[in-house]
Amino acid sequence: MSVHVIADNASKISTLRALIERQHVVTSETLSSASIKRNGMEAAVIAVDVAAVDNISALKAISERLARIPRRIFVIDGKGRLPVVQAYALGATYVLTNPITQAELLAKLAPVEAPIFPPGEIRGSTMEAASAGAASFASMFSAVMNGSAIDVGNAKAAGGKIANSIAENGLSDWLSTVRRHHEGTYQHCLLVTGVAVDFGLSLGLGNADLERLYSAAMFHDIGKAKIPLAVLDKPGRLDDRERALIQTHPGAGFEVLQGNSAISPEILDAVRHHHEFLDGSGYPDALCAESISDIVRILTISDIFAALIEHRTYKPTMPREKAYEILQGMHGKLEKPLVEVFREVALNR
Ligand SMILES: [Fe+2]
Ligand SMILES: [Fe+2]
Repeated sequence: MSVHVIADNASKISTLRALIERQHVVTSETLSSASIKRNGMEAAVIAVDVAAVDNISALKAISERLARIPRRIFVIDGKGRLPVVQAYALGATYVLTNPITQAELLAKLAPVEAPIFPPGEIRGSTMEAASAGAASFASMFSAVMNGSAIDVGNAKAAGGKIANSIAENGLSDWLSTVRRHHEGTYQHCLLVTGVAVDFGLSLGLGNADLERLYSAAMFHDIGKAKIPLAVLDKPGRLDDRERALIQTHPGAGFEVLQGNSAISPEILDAVRHHHEFLDGSGYPDALCAESISDIVRILTISDIFAALIEHRTYKPTMPREKAYEILQGMHGKLEKPLVEVFREVALNR
């Protein structure tokens, strides 16, 4: 494989070259003078301090050429999620944190994992991914209403297309396209899936976890197929009876999917529990923090944010900043460090 190494100093370059040179054809440049002139590189290893302003602007200057290299492994220093988030924002497809081993780096360069974004696949536009998603929701919802079989494979494939679209074109593009062209519950489900994917990418989730997350998002509100549209799409406030009816949707979704062998237990759990809160004030089971999984915590934040920024014909769309403020104000209900990491997704991506 042809691998291009970029680092912010010469000693990092020689260390990295020594790790991979026997297995791969390696070229290298220091970041300050990097231009990535050669075409057809298969992977890049970028070892830079992603918190340094000069490095950020140097990486942005070569971002277009860097984006042509399908595999971009960032090797970073520092603990915590922030540098990881920064590396993904700068175009990483994988992030490794120092100290790294030769085996780790070589594993990232070897094509072992089935990639979610297969190189060479023609990536559809944001519009196409949104249409495929909406079509999948329409077919799922009508299957629930008719009592016929749900096409789980189709929903997962549509989720994969959405993930590709977000990775390729970014979250802002997704949000504006979906809000312009889709409405009601399908708009909501498309927004949740897109926000969850981008949140997952910013957390540095691996392919398998990301797939779990977007699948859970695709199915999370399937129980709404059982709620009459007059209540579901009612403009304005719901009365107590209507609210109680809406709140049956997680349980209804769980019942619809339970026993479907193509649905994993964690997806089933996410469908039933995406309205639970850490302080026990959610529904339907009033779970407490220790019973709420990570994937559900991520999905719940994505779900609330997406619901707040929905486009409705009868009221102005809430700005992303305001929606994030509301999340921050939900003390005790959402995982605080996750809400912190979500800031970048909510405001800047
Ligand atoms: Fe829901
Ligand atoms: Fe939802």
